[in-house]
Formats: sequence, structure tokens, C-alpha cells
Amino acid sequence: MERNFKLGVEFAKELDSKDELKSYRERFYLGEGELYFDGNSLGACSKDAEESLLEMLDVWKKEKILIWNVKDGKYFKYPQYLGGLSAPLVNADENEITITNNTTMNIHSALATFYRPTGERYKILVDELNFPSDAHAVASQVKLHGLDPDKAIKVVKSRDGRNIEEDDIIEAMTDDVAVALLPSVLYRSAQLLDMERLTKAGHDKGIIVGWDLSHSIGSVPHDFKKVDPDFAVWCTYKHLSGGPGSNAALYINKKHFGTDPGLAGWFGNKKESQFLMDHRHDPELDADAWLTGTPNMLSMAPIEGVLKLFNAAGIHNIREKSLFLTDYLVFLIENRLEKYGFKNGTLKDHNRRGGHIALEHDDAYRISLALKEKNVIPDFREPNVIRLAPVALYNSFEDVHKVVDILEEIVTEKTYEKFSDKRALVV
Ligand SMILES: Cc1ncc(COP(=O)(O)O)c(C=O)c1O
Repeated sequence: MERNFKLGVEFAKELDSKDELKSYRERFYLGEGELYFDGNSLGACSKDAEESLLEMLDVWKKEKILIWNVKDGKYFKYPQYLGGLSAPLVNADENEITITNNTTMNIHSALATFYRPTGERYKILVDELNFPSDAHAVASQVKLHGLDPDKAIKVVKSRDGRNIEEDDIIEAMTDDVAVALLPSVLYRSAQLLDMERLTKAGHDKGIIVGWDLSHSIGSVPHDFKKVDPDFAVWCTYKHLSGGPGSNAALYINKKHFGTDPGLAGWFGNKKESQFLMDHRHDPELDADAWLTGTPNMLSMAPIEGVLKLFNAAGIHNIREKSLFLTDYLVFLIENRLEKYGFKNGTLKDHNRRGGHIALEHDDAYRISLALKEKNVIPDFREPNVIRLAPVALYNSFEDVHKVVDILEEIVTEKTYEKFSDKRALVV
């Protein structure tokens, strides 16, 4: 979309005055003068997340073990209750999603279920730019089957180090591939893949297709009725602001209900017979079959409040503002920062990008430290990327303008030069 942006802070203020989501900012805890641009890594805490957590603590205080019985068993059925609240984000049925584990464990659980290598079809297809934990999970699952990761994992290479060509993925979907595990949005460059096209191409070749939505959930709407993936996983602590280590989501397409879960446990048993304590597993006939042990209630409670907030705001409205904010950021980068060696490393096409911008610079690491000194919180990804995520529910156009002002000041005054290039433990 062509937008007629203008330079100058007055223009940013004008955009803010027309922003229909601006009242949501008050729901979040943001420091005085802080410019939080790292919601793509760990979303800011909201009052809504805090309230649902405190509510659960209150129930625990008063009810103790009876927490599982009160409110019609709401907390006993909490994984699916939260799954249901997540359904509008991906246009899935409520019982196709359950909230459990972390993202990596959900990949293990899905692969333990769907990866059934045979002599002819034994490979898992991944891409070179996916998040390391996905690659580690895939390698260990291959090894559990006694296979050699070098032979059983097929890696689609990037042509430019930033993006993955969809045609290359499709070309790699050969008859020996059993499962493809792909990211919806690449964690570094923010490239958004055409999930519908790739899932269909995989299915045409008899491949099980799973997606990791960690970098798109809560900023990009998905339509699983159209995409029709076999399974999907995502974390809830990035754009969704569920809290540090909040539990992840596991989506299982309803066509797979009744499939034996690869990793079973008593919480995956049918609820009505769970407490009969039978050693024979009688799994639920929906995504809850993939639950294992007692849900991590305190890591789930904040998700309830924040999902209600996202649903009230509407994921399509969130996407619209997110694209507007990132378009504006790219405009300012191109018009004010390129002359200092900065480059936008994210595709501009709305259909091909998620909710953050990869700002590239040869001195990106030290500049990211200088930003933090100025109360701007981005993150850094090797080798040269500062990720900047203006988040629709709590960042403003004026915030974007201020960040660009500060970046310009840092490079013109060379304040970043006083920092060491030696990487910190967490960057
Ligand atoms: C794409 C992607 N997959 C998986 C993970 C790992 O998630 P978790 O720590 O919940 O296992 C991350 C974490 O940032 C991620 O970005």
C-alpha cells in the first residue's frame, strides 16, 4: 500500500491522534520515558495479565486442591480454555488448540506423533534460517529413530542470508520427505512465508506439514481453515505478552484427532476417566490428547487476561496498525538513516513480512547497547541485525519517531564507540 508519510514529529502525532487502538497502551506497564521495542522477544506486562494471575492466586489461596473443581472445572480444563481463547488468532476450532509445555517440547510432541520414518520416506524438511531450538528438536527426534541427522534432515538454504525462497522449499519437497517443519515468520529478517501455498505443496507430495508461529502469533492473523496445517506450535510470550516462560500452544488439525499422541500422560486422558487411574491410556479426542502432566497453572494464568485483551482489540486491527507502524519505521530508515550505513533488511511487501523490522548495520551490536543506554529496548541478532518491533497495542508513531531520532544521535555523536563488541550472555 502506498502511504504518504512525511518527516517531522508533528506527522507522527497526527497519526497517533487517529489511532483507534491507542487506548490499549494504558493497559500495559511501560517505564517512564522508556521506548520498548522488543515485544517480538518478550511482550510487555499488561494489567489484564496481572489480573488473571492474581485471580488464580486468589482461588488457590481460598480453595487449595479444590481449585480443580471450582468454576465448573475451569482450571482443570484450563489448557483447552486458553486454547479456545487463542482460536480467533488463527481461525481454528477451539478444541484444536491446547496450551502446554514450551514451544520446543511441543515440537517434540508433534514430531513424536507425526514423524514415522520408513525406508523410502524418512526425511524432515527444515530451512537454514529457522530458530536453533527447532533444529535441535528435529535432530534429536531423527536420532531417536536411529537415523543420522546429516542424512535424514533436509535443509533448504537461503540465497541471501535473510530470506528463504518459497520455490526452493517446494523444490525440496521430494518423495523421501516425511515431515516439513517451517517458520511462519523468520525470527531475524521477519520474512512471512505463504503458509497456504507451502502447506498445499507439501500435502500434494504426501508430506505432513507443521508450522512454528512463534514470530507471527499476535501480530499476524492466520487462517487455519485455509492453510490446513497438520500441526502448529507457538510461544505466548512474544507479541502475545503472556509473560516470561508462559506456556506454549500446540495446534492439532481435527483430521488427526484420534491419532495416538507420541508423548502421552495422564492429563491427555479423557477427563471423565482420568481419575479412574487406569494404566491404559484413553486419550481425549481433540488437541488435549497431547497434554502430559499437570498444567503449569501459574505460567498460564497471565495468558488468559492478555488473550481477552487481544480478542477485544481484534487481530486484524492489530495487524493493520502493526503494518502502518512498520511502514512508517521503514520510511524513516530510508529517508533519515541510510546515509549512516543503516539498511532495512526486511521485505517491504505486506504479504511477505511479520511485525518487526530488521535494521542492519556493521556496528549493530554496539549500537544496540547505545540504544539501551538511552532507554530504547531493542534486541540484537547475529551478525548485524537490530530487531525493532513497534507493537500495535502499546507503541505509538511518536515512539517510532523518537527511536529514529535516538539512532541518528547515536551514530552522529558516535556514542556507541565506547561499548565493547564482546557479546553479553543474553543480547
Ligand atoms: C521460532 C522459535 N521457535 C522456538 C523457540 C523456542 O521457544 P521455547 O523457549 O518456548 O521452547 C523460539 C524462541 O524464541 C522461537 O523464536
